[in-house]
Amino acid sequence: MAVLESILLVGGKGTRLRPLTINTPKPMLPVAGVPFTEHQIAIARAAGVTRVVLGTSYRAEVFSDYFGDGSAFGVALDYRVEDEPLGTGGAIRNAAAALTCGPDDPVVVFNGDILTGLDIPAMVRAWVEADADVALYLTRVDDPRAFGLVPTVGDRVTAFLEKPQTPEEIVTDQINAGCYIFRRSVIDEIPTGRPVSVERETFPGLLEAGRTVLGWVDPGYWLDLGTPLAFAQGSADIVTGVVGSPALPGAPGPALVGDGAQVRGECTAGTSVGAGAVVGERSQVRSSVLFDRARIGSDVVVENSIIGAGSSIGDGCVLRGVVVGDGARIGAGNELLDGVRVWPDMVLDDCSVRFSSDQ
Ligand code: GTP
Repeated sequence: MAVLESILLVGGKGTRLRPLTINTPKPMLPVAGVPFTEHQIAIARAAGVTRVVLGTSYRAEVFSDYFGDGSAFGVALDYRVEDEPLGTGGAIRNAAAALTCGPDDPVVVFNGDILTGLDIPAMVRAWVEADADVALYLTRVDDPRAFGLVPTVGDRVTAFLEKPQTPEEIVTDQINAGCYIFRRSVIDEIPTGRPVSVERETFPGLLEAGRTVLGWVDPGYWLDLGTPLAFAQGSADIVTGVVGSPALPGAPGPALVGDGAQVRGECTAGTSVGAGAVVGERSQVRSSVLFDRARIGSDVVVENSIIGAGSSIGDGCVLRGVVVGDGARIGAGNELLDGVRVWPDMVLDDCSVRFSSDQ
C-alpha cells in the first residue's frame, strides 16, 4: 500500500482545559515543546501514514497557519472545516471528502487528544486479516467509569457502552482508546449534514447490523490529554521518554528547556520550559508545562501544573495541580492547589492565601 491515509479529529472545544483553550484549540497547546498535533503527526508518519486530513472546527485557522501543506512535517496535509461542530462521526464523514484512497482501503482515525505508543502497523494488519469493517483500539484501565466500555469475545466487539452509570454496567475494563481503522466505504455510510457520534451512533449501529468490528487491545502506553493533570503528565512522559515521539526537540531527559529560557532553579520529572521563560533561584518545577515567556520567581514550588504564556508567579509561591492562564500574575507567597484555575490576565496580589478547589 503506497499511501496510508489518516484523519485527525481536532475540532473539539476542549472545555476541560479552559482557560488555556479560550484562544488556542486543545491539540495546538504546547506539549513537550511543540503543539500536541505535531507529536501525533510525527508518530503517525513513523508508522507509515503519508497523508493526513485534519477535521477542524473550533479555531480552524490556527492549524493551517502552523502546518501549511504538511511538507515541513513529512506528510501531505489537507483540511476540512466544519461550520458547526459535527461530532466525532460527522467530522470523520466530513473529512473523508479529502481522502484519495479507494473504498476498501484502511483509514486510520485518531482523536486529537490521545497520546499512545500503539503499534499502528500491527493494528492495520489485524484489520486486514479479519477483513473487518472497523477495528477499535482498546486499552485497559483501572477505573473505566468515565469512558466508553468495549467488551469483546475473542477479538470481536460485542457492545459499545458509553460512560456506564451503575456497577452492573461495568462489564469490562477495556475502553475505547480513541483510534480506529475504518474501511473507507464504511465512513461513506455515515450520514452527512448533521452531528453524528461514532461512540453513540455509528459503532452501536454497526454491531446491530452484524458487521465485523474488531477489538484491538494494545497493552502499551495510552493517555487521554483532556484534563489538566493528564496534559501535564503526557508532556512529562514525552520529555522523559516514557513514550516516544519523533517530534520531541532533542533527546529525552529530565527537562526540556526552550530557546532563550533561563533556569536558575531546578526543573525535573519531565518539566517543559517554553522559549524565553525564566525559573528563579532555588525554585523547583516538577512534571509541569511552562508556556513561552512564563516567569517563575525565586523559592517557588510548581508541580503537575500548566503555566500560561507570559504569566508570572511571585517569589515563594506553591502551585500544585493548577492551571494559570496566559498573562496572569500571581503575587508572592500564594499557595494554589488541586484544580485551581486562574483566568488569563487575572492578578492575584501578594496576600499569602491558600486556594484549593477541594475546600
Ligand atoms: P472537552 O470539551 O474537554 O470534552 O474536549 P473535546 O472538545 O476535545 O471533546 P472530546 O475530548 O470528547 O473529543 C474527542 C476528540 O474528538 C478530540 O480530539 C476533539 O478535538 C474531537 N472532536 C470532538 N467533537 C468534534 C467535532 O464536532 N468536530 C471535530 N472535527 N472534532 C471533534
